[in-house]
Amino acid sequence: MSIGHDEVTIELADRGYRIAIGSGLLGERAVLDGLPHGSTAVIVSNPTVAQRYAHRLQALLQSRSTHCILIELPDGEIHKDWSSLERVFGALLRAGADRKTVLYALGGGVVGDITGFAAACYMRGIPFVQVPTTLLAQVDSSVGGKTAINHPLGKNMIGAFYQPLRVIADLDTLDTLPDREISAGLAEVIKYGPIADDAFLGWIEDHLDALLARDKKALAHAVKRSCEIKAWVVGQDERETGLRAILNFGHTFGHAIEAGLGFGTWLHGEAVGCGMVMAADLSHRLGLIDAAYAQRITRLVERARLPIRGPQLGADRYLELMRVDKKSEAGEIRFVVIEAPGRAALRPAPDDIVREVLAAHAA
Ligand code: NAD
Ligand code: GLY
Repeated sequence: MSIGHDEVTIELADRGYRIAIGSGLLGERAVLDGLPHGSTAVIVSNPTVAQRYAHRLQALLQSRSTHCILIELPDGEIHKDWSSLERVFGALLRAGADRKTVLYALGGGVVGDITGFAAACYMRGIPFVQVPTTLLAQVDSSVGGKTAINHPLGKNMIGAFYQPLRVIADLDTLDTLPDREISAGLAEVIKYGPIADDAFLGWIEDHLDALLARDKKALAHAVKRSCEIKAWVVGQDERETGLRAILNFGHTFGHAIEAGLGFGTWLHGEAVGCGMVMAADLSHRLGLIDAAYAQRITRLVERARLPIRGPQLGADRYLELMRVDKKSEAGEIRFVVIEAPGRAALRPAPDDIVREVLAAHAA
């Protein structure tokens, strides 16, 4: 790429790739340099995003591909399911897509996760590119190769590790994102501080107002630093045999909230934000961090306009839902806890302490 934007690299031997971050990328032909041409390029999106941005990507692709088609999936977390996946497969087969066809996921984490999984499965694997258009997708879901759909019994339960060829994060797409989605994305940005970089937590505290106001310079730094941290983690543990689990800080409680209320009732980022408040309190109750550090995380989540109290599902239901989490082993729930500012680990926790946390934050 010869353009003057930020770039972060995921180092994964023969599957490494670049994340391009900047304004105006969807108008820069150079962002596609080095990607395979294929006879067909397929954009997978949803109506909300496609009406705003598909024409830009189409114009870029049409200058290099013989054929470009658009698949629109219904919008929303509730549609991150088999039916959307089948819709992609059907459209690909009808269009005569072959092994050289490249899929472009244009949208947020829902479109990205479904498209990545479709790419992993179609003809046993075809190339795909992530073009994330939400803050959450730019700082997290488009990077690292986790792809999945939900099952009614659990979040992201059916999926594959499958890396994209490139990530193209055009910051200008965030201009049209609703405020609630900016806050949801900030949950995943905040996450990186306590788990990996305490100085970044301080930077977020100092720049939160600028981020909420969509200041491009602040957003560019938040996206870049988040991707750098994620690249550092994924580069060491692509398939989550250990370290990568720290990226799930707040997610065990959060996934229980999402599944317990029904997918889509709370946004994923909202559930993660509230889940981080609970996981920080758990870390404190386990004697790992002081109350002030847990409070610091809670305050930041609140300032990001995210919920800090969970829904009243009942402690038994929370525990039941959390046992379905992918990090559980033999029915034992394992939580990402903060061991020290900027350092996280995966551990079990006694049920009575988890119940105390739930009583304090979701009673
Ligand atoms: P989303 O994909 O549902 O997008 C949020 C909403 O914003 C949607 O209505 C979408 O149509 C709309 N939208 C997207 N871009 C827009 C734009 N530029 N302007 C206006 N509207 C726009 O939600 P999300 O928060 O992006 O992603 C959440 C999903 O990501 C969850 O399913 C979660 O499980 C998944 N996720 C995956 C990973 C991973 O590593 N694969 C990591 C974190 C989250
Ligand atoms: N979002 C968690 C991960 O990518 O591992």
